[in-house]
Amino acid sequence: MKAERDAGGERLARFLARTGTASRRHAEELIREGRVTVNGKAVLDPGTNVDAKKDAVKVDGRRVKPAPPVYLILHKPRLVLSSMEDPRGRPCVGDLLSGIKGKPYPVGRLDFDAEGLLFCTNDGDLAHRIIHPRYRVRKVYHVKVKGVPDKKVIDRLRNGVVLDGKKTAPAGVSILKRGDRNCWLRMTLYEGRNRQVKRMLELFRYPVLKLKRVALGPLALEGLPRGAYRKLRPAEVEKLRAALEGVDKAGRRL
Ligand code: URA
Repeated sequence: MKAERDAGGERLARFLARTGTASRRHAEELIREGRVTVNGKAVLDPGTNVDAKKDAVKVDGRRVKPAPPVYLILHKPRLVLSSMEDPRGRPCVGDLLSGIKGKPYPVGRLDFDAEGLLFCTNDGDLAHRIIHPRYRVRKVYHVKVKGVPDKKVIDRLRNGVVLDGKKTAPAGVSILKRGDRNCWLRMTLYEGRNRQVKRMLELFRYPVLKLKRVALGPLALEGLPRGAYRKLRPAEVEKLRAALEGVDKAGRRL
């Protein structure tokens, strides 16, 4: 893809994704709807080649340019929304990221009462791939539950349970710490359905008391204080990209 850019052009949909205007798929829709112009002319083919240095691209009449990419991880505290703003004025991730150039936004979400690793970027293309179920990005959670699930329950959680009429993908589940009345579990999921950890455990009547995401793909939360963020090193971004490569359309590892 880089070679394609260096050669003086790239697909219009990809260019728009890099501007942070939309994901690549949404960009294709914008193009087909006739909302995108290149040098003053409406372009309806998402495959059209554009040169970021020479061509003037507008969406709904507004010029868009790719911002330099920003990649960071944030330790979202509990009682903070995973959104950039909240009409009701509750604390949100946007407050923690204010002042960062390039408008990075959270990729995926954690519940209001959950904490942990949130990956944030303005690279719409990478964001889209991280969220897309095809890529089965690994998410690791530490979960405090009321009660102590026995081996039978743990096996069922591992093998998959039915949520919204569809079986969950095989997961890693183990007990990290056992108490008399509750315990900490480590759960590794490869999909990101809404409130998935809580709903899987609720099925067996184990309410979640605390939930923390400690890893996403090759990225780990370790060492990052609550409410703080850090930019990723280029080698970490490369590792993340590598984790998303080698997957076919059906989500199989090549
Ligand atoms: N599963 C949940 O139940 N909540 C989260 O925030 C993330 C995963």
